[in-house]
Amino acid sequence: MEGRGASSGLEQVRAHPSSPLERDIERILITEREIQEALRRIGEEITRDYAGRDLLLVGVLKGAFVLMADLCRYIRLPLDVDFMAVASYGASTKTSGVVRILKDLDHDIEGRDVLLVEDIVDSGLTLNYLLKNLRGRRPASLEVCAFLKKTGIQRVEIDVRYCGFEIPPEFVVGYGLDYGEKYRNLRYIATLRPEAYREPR
Ligand code: IMP
Repeated sequence: MEGRGASSGLEQVRAHPSSPLERDIERILITEREIQEALRRIGEEITRDYAGRDLLLVGVLKGAFVLMADLCRYIRLPLDVDFMAVASYGASTKTSGVVRILKDLDHDIEGRDVLLVEDIVDSGLTLNYLLKNLRGRRPASLEVCAFLKKTGIQRVEIDVRYCGFEIPPEFVVGYGLDYGEKYRNLRYIATLRPEAYREPR
């Protein structure tokens, strides 16, 4: 794992303030190109690690839908894809610690090599809950790929096998991540201007 530390100086790029989608963007933390480079690296690692195994990628909806679409195409192995939908944040920016499963897996995972794909680890409570739940179903192995991990604020220790980037503990949007269900379709990871939290979405 080679996540990038907060101290390495995240790239700051201007968005397109005239676009209705991008006018609320304050700062781009991770560019489209950096995202794809990280996914290529992770895809190669997974390809090496899971050769000859029975890989099932499990994406955590909704945030991981963009990540899953890209990541699975950087893995050069036969694999199955499944999704779980959980509710943790609603329209606010702080986790409640309460996780509800809105959609369960279609697959039986007993005896399978499961790789849980999550967009971001904040408090870690969502993943902690999901890992406990999935472990109870007796997979052959269970690992975590988290695209983003906020530094130093996890309330539970999560063993992230594959990580894209470590970022400062700020609220971010884009590349599947939302605020009030918006901004998921941005191609990069960014912070929002303070006004965006006050204006109706
Ligand atoms: P945790 O349980 O606190 O680790 O939060 C995990 C979930 O909260 C993620 O899967 C996201 O859906 C959401 N989340 C956490 N941090 C952010 C953020 O900075 N932007 C958008 N969603 C976030």
